[in-house]
Amino acid sequence: MAATTTASTITITTTSPSITFTAPNHHFLTNLRPFHHPNLHRHLRLRHTTCSYKVSIEHDGVTTNLEVDPDETILDKALETGMSVPHDCKLGVCMTCPAKLLTGDVDQTEGMLSDDVIERGYSLLCVSYPKSDCQIKIIPEEELLSLQLATADD
Ligand code: FES
Repeated sequence: MAATTTASTITITTTSPSITFTAPNHHFLTNLRPFHHPNLHRHLRLRHTTCSYKVSIEHDGVTTNLEVDPDETILDKALETGMSVPHDCKLGVCMTCPAKLLTGDVDQTEGMLSDDVIERGYSLLCVSYPKSDCQIKIIPEEELLSLQLATADD
């Protein structure tokens, strides 16, 4: 483990597991002497092991299980692992990557779905970042489009 400090940040880098943690160099952090804390390794390891979520995706009758980090979209992870998932813009605009969230929670604040549609459990996978373990079913684009248009009239 190595630690470097600047006037404004503290950076801690470990090699196994490989983690780089940068935090503001606030007065309280320096007073805690984090580099000498006996539980720092355990704390970093716990943060590392809880940083991805189990995401189960059902598509065309096949269920695929993924490990998705909270800072990557479910679509990007699915494509990276070789899944064939409908998509186009990857910006949360075209609605060609619709899914129904059966369990779990995602952050999709970058997308354009209405709050009503999101509350009914729908999501756009290209802007969905997991906030918990999730079960997701990819649905036909028409299902989401009709619902989005119906709620737009409300
Ligand atoms: S790919 Fe266009 S909205 Fe997701």
